[in-house]
Amino acid sequence: MRTDTAPVVRLEDYRPTDFLIDTVVLDIALDATATRVHADFSVRRNPAGRADAPLVLQGDELVLLSVTRDGVRLTADQYQADPQGLILPGPLPESFSLTIETMVNPSANTKLMGLYRSGGNYCTQCEAEGFRRITYFLDRPDVLSVYTTRLEAARADAPLLLANGNLVERGDIPGTGRHYAVWHDPHPKPAYLFALVGGTLDTLAEEFVTASGRKVEIAVHVEAGKRERAAYALDALRRSMRWDETTFGREYDLDVFNVVAVSDFNMGAMENKGLNIFNDKYVLASSDTATDADYAGIETVIAHEYFHNWTGNRITCRDWFQLCLKEGLTVFRDQEFSADERSRPVKRIADVRTLRTQQFAEDSGPLSHPVRPRTYREINNFYTATVYEKGAEIVRMLRSLIGPAAFRRGMDLYFARCDGTAATIEDFLGCFAEASGRDLGHFAQWYEQAGTPVVTASGQYDAAAGTYRLTLSQATPPTPGQPTKAPMVIPIVLGLVGASGDALPIATTNEATVDADGLFVLDSANATITFTGLTERPVPSLLRGFSAPVRLESELDDDDLVVLFRHDSDPFNQWQAGQTLATRLILAAMRGETVNTRFGEALGHFLDSDARNDPAFAAQVLALPSEADIARDIGRDINPTAIHNARLAVKRALGAELAPHLNALHGALQSSEAYRPDAANTGRRALRNAALDLLAAGDATEGAARATAQFDEADNMTERLGALAVLVLIPGAARDHALATFAARYGDNPLVLDKWFALQAGIPEEGTLDRITELARHPAFSMGNPNRIRALFGSFAMTNATQFNREDGRGYDLIADTVLALDARNPQVAARLLTAFRTWRVLEPIRRGKAEAALRRVAATQGLSPDVSDIAGRSLE
Ligand code: PHE
Ligand code: ZN
Repeated sequence: MRTDTAPVVRLEDYRPTDFLIDTVVLDIALDATATRVHADFSVRRNPAGRADAPLVLQGDELVLLSVTRDGVRLTADQYQADPQGLILPGPLPESFSLTIETMVNPSANTKLMGLYRSGGNYCTQCEAEGFRRITYFLDRPDVLSVYTTRLEAARADAPLLLANGNLVERGDIPGTGRHYAVWHDPHPKPAYLFALVGGTLDTLAEEFVTASGRKVEIAVHVEAGKRERAAYALDALRRSMRWDETTFGREYDLDVFNVVAVSDFNMGAMENKGLNIFNDKYVLASSDTATDADYAGIETVIAHEYFHNWTGNRITCRDWFQLCLKEGLTVFRDQEFSADERSRPVKRIADVRTLRTQQFAEDSGPLSHPVRPRTYREINNFYTATVYEKGAEIVRMLRSLIGPAAFRRGMDLYFARCDGTAATIEDFLGCFAEASGRDLGHFAQWYEQAGTPVVTASGQYDAAAGTYRLTLSQATPPTPGQPTKAPMVIPIVLGLVGASGDALPIATTNEATVDADGLFVLDSANATITFTGLTERPVPSLLRGFSAPVRLESELDDDDLVVLFRHDSDPFNQWQAGQTLATRLILAAMRGETVNTRFGEALGHFLDSDARNDPAFAAQVLALPSEADIARDIGRDINPTAIHNARLAVKRALGAELAPHLNALHGALQSSEAYRPDAANTGRRALRNAALDLLAAGDATEGAARATAQFDEADNMTERLGALAVLVLIPGAARDHALATFAARYGDNPLVLDKWFALQAGIPEEGTLDRITELARHPAFSMGNPNRIRALFGSFAMTNATQFNREDGRGYDLIADTVLALDARNPQVAARLLTAFRTWRVLEPIRRGKAEAALRRVAATQGLSPDVSDIAGRSLE
């Protein structure tokens, strides 16, 4: 059913469910077009609910076959049903059994929610509200049930049958060619964690022995013929399971843990209890097909979904407003895991880049919302960077504020106290307040108040007194529905650096406290810290490790920044100083000023000394701030072409200035060893690619020659794609040849072709629009597959700033047309694509007008899905 506007759901309207469903027994006969679902529920009134309420179950596009209560088949006058719901008016007993038979057509399910087909297999996706597309149910996360699932299918159609929990029985149905499997999950769970898989899959499995000695079979199942590419995912799973034991004391709790990779998936992956279902992009990897970034992504997503077993499944959310309870916390946990497995500073820099590009952008525009929203129309639109990434930052700040020991005690208390429940943010924070003895009332504001706080710092050195007065102030700009903002609790980790790079001792007058780790808590609009006992003017290094998700405005001059870039003991701020210097060069170029070269000199110095000690870090240093970073800094009347040109000019100048260093690095970092995706080799390749990119900007001829050689010689996807990414920016025969070679080599590998689609969609040239229209007709492209859409249209809209924001508005029209064409088929993916317009209001007037017109055209279209209608409506508010 398609509606124009869905009703608003409000947190303040939450009330306990009137009924509970303790057990669910499903008997599902899989069929490509007519799957029969027989569901038995044991229902009872919730003591906390209304005593006389009818039973109201949700459905979505369901065909009802029968309803039976306590063994008696109900007649049509005894209930009300349509495809969207089923109501038993009563009077109803305190407890009763209910049997519902429904029919669903998985082949017709293009929304990829509920039961659908992918690559010839059956799979499900139930978060947030997909279970109601399988049977009528109390489809809300605070209804927890024990599930038993019997699956039946033709053996030839689906030799493998998986569901949540442990396998209890399997067998043939003699004489029918059919077989069955019965799965039982003893852990009560909400319906959004239900899953089943049926089909022909290749399996890679091993035994995992938990800390207490329990044996678990862990398995990764992939589409037939792809088993060699499953090994890294299985390895990442084993490491994740061990890490959660050692770091958080969390053990796995079933006999099996299954991961299934499917090629059609709306999101990254899903944490269904004991049966994670993944977008195969986050499972499949080999040196020939996956980049180091892909390997890192697999490691992260495997860990993320596994960690949900405790933070999400054992403890779930009371309602969808609490989504950050599981997502923010689980992102924090996966970030910590990757930091432990790889380089902590480099991971932090990468995470902050994502936070700024995604979350800061979202938070500065019409789609801004609190980490715990108070209202929604379509919950699918709240799986956002704010809920996930800013949600993780809140957990990280909590740990800085109370310290790691109290944080761990708080987590232990949370696991002990909330296990088996559907919890809230208040429950979560309560555990940390208790464990630390601190009042977290003010801190809780981070969940309520949207927008990115701006922290402004200014300092005064008094040589005679040997003091440095640092004044910090905070302000948060208004966001939709929140015109005025209160001060937040902002942990600011800081240090003082002397001109020659020494860390200066920290002593303050007693009004302000800076603890031994350099932590100062800014919890009012303004504060002043007076540092004493100084014998030289200090350079303040503020917000070390990016200790809070804020924008920092400081008055450091270029010389101060060079000091931090050279000497800051905090790697994040060392990197940040380089980024700030580069930003200043780009902003100067936009004003037509000549380029100051102190940064080039400092970078040259860095490349010859520190860079080789930590190549992964050096690669981050070499990557200039993105066009989106610069746009965010400017904040209004954005002309993406002007930003692009200025950034390119700076990149060219730096590339030319540093050519000898870069050429030397690029040569020295070549390796003849066999490919390994470990941190050290990943760092080396990252720096090699970054050096190539910069040197090609400085000298296109030399760059194209080196890139072509790297492309031809590479024995791994990271270097091959790194070279191709440089070549696509240089028009000419070398580019055309490389693109054709790549397509021929990987013509049968859709995930690799996605990289080819994405690179071309990102080319900052006028011709890209026509190129995209042509690529959309490529045989490997399909509007039915979310990965293809994201690769082609998503990359264009999200990364190609000059062409999406063409002055003639054709980039906006292309995305608007695509959103409308996609909406009938897959509203979730369509709505996500439309969020590319989220910063339209800060554009210069001509582009702003064109973007608004495209958005209005979408919003005015009849029969929009609630998903697209919600994004279009809020974007225009
Ligand atoms: N819960 C999933 C995760 O973050 C994301 C997801 C949401 C997947 C909704 C599918 C649908 O791990
Ligand atoms: Zn998650």
